Amino acid sequence: MKYRVLGSSGLIVSEICLGTMTFGEPVDEAEAVKLVHGAMGMGINFIDTANVYEGYRRYLGSAGGVAEEIVGKALQGRRDQAILATKVGAPVGPGPQDRGLTASHILREVDRSLQRLQTDYIDLYIVHWPDKHVPLETTMAALDQVVRQGKVRYLGASNHHAAQLCEMLWLADQHSWPPIVSSQIPFSLLRREFQHDLAFCKRHAIGVTPYQPLQAGLLTGKYRRHQAPPSDSRAAEKPDWVWTFDDRLFDRLERIEALANEIDIPPAQYALAWVLAQPAMSSLVVGAKQLGHVQDAVAAADLKLPATHLARLDEICPPPWSQPDPIRG
Ligand SMILES: NC(=O)c1ccc[n+]([C@@H]2O[C@H](COP(=O)([O-])OP(=O)(O)OC[C@H]3O[C@@H](n4cnc5c(N)ncnc54)[C@H](OP(=O)(O)O)[C@@H]3O)[C@@H](O)[C@H]2O)c1
Repeated sequence: MKYRVLGSSGLIVSEICLGTMTFGEPVDEAEAVKLVHGAMGMGINFIDTANVYEGYRRYLGSAGGVAEEIVGKALQGRRDQAILATKVGAPVGPGPQDRGLTASHILREVDRSLQRLQTDYIDLYIVHWPDKHVPLETTMAALDQVVRQGKVRYLGASNHHAAQLCEMLWLADQHSWPPIVSSQIPFSLLRREFQHDLAFCKRHAIGVTPYQPLQAGLLTGKYRRHQAPPSDSRAAEKPDWVWTFDDRLFDRLERIEALANEIDIPPAQYALAWVLAQPAMSSLVVGAKQLGHVQDAVAAADLKLPATHLARLDEICPPPWSQPDPIRG
């Protein structure tokens, strides 16, 4: 396994981070514990969860907590070998205080997460989504409090644009609060809308930990045009968690796969190697249903795609906008 620095935290994390969004269902507790132990055995030291994760059972406002409980059990006796990330902010109930980034919600949820994770500290506490109803100062002051209480070591943001990260860094600087050290964004060959934020993250020592780098499995080669998805795949089991199939999607997938075939690399490894080659990347948050998926991800960390392929992939999956440099072209 290879390791990188997680932004300004200085933490050394494996290039692959184990995602746990499917813990509970379809990955039951026993399988999930085996996945965590197997991943750690392969050198993965970074685990990503959230207070809301409970696998396919999740709906907007459901209580969550299942994945954190499983991760807590899996880490008994090996807590200090893991960099453990969890998140706050998504709804965990129907009430107005059951969500968001108020001090009340954060201070309540951090204790619940610690209890479920059976630990007295969270390495990386991530705000799951921006909350437009709460002033950022309020959120940042509450986050400062949980760090000073020793419940949390470092702070991260998820689903935030560069301008929002910039404001967080600026407020932290103004108030001597701990800075944001990581940014978890959706990012894959098929989903590049945050591409231009990567330069900002690089410049300001924010480690990027992209999620869904396989675009929920679409980039693994398991789905075929005009064919039903394999019965054990996410598209068959939980179709609303995978993009709808259409010809445009398969046009891109087939062209990507042809390139992967040219250099004899399995599609999943090829797609992950491409994300790892992007600027500011610290660790890819990959989901896995079986240990073989983790093995594929770990193998991707050793790959380097040829420069010619990077250019051709830009043609197949162009970044959201690109303007020619007026001087250098
Ligand atoms: N911050 C956020 O808002 C946010 C949002 C979503 C996710 N996340 C994090 O990101 C993690 C990853 O998300 P994700 O699981 O949706 O995306 P993903 O990593 O792109 O896809 C993972 C899924 O692809 C399939 N797969 C993985 N490796 C494979 C391989 N080598 N061959 C064949 N199939 C393979 C498996 O699904 P099947 O076998 O079932 O087809 C697996 O569950 C989550 O667990 C969570 O920690 C964060």
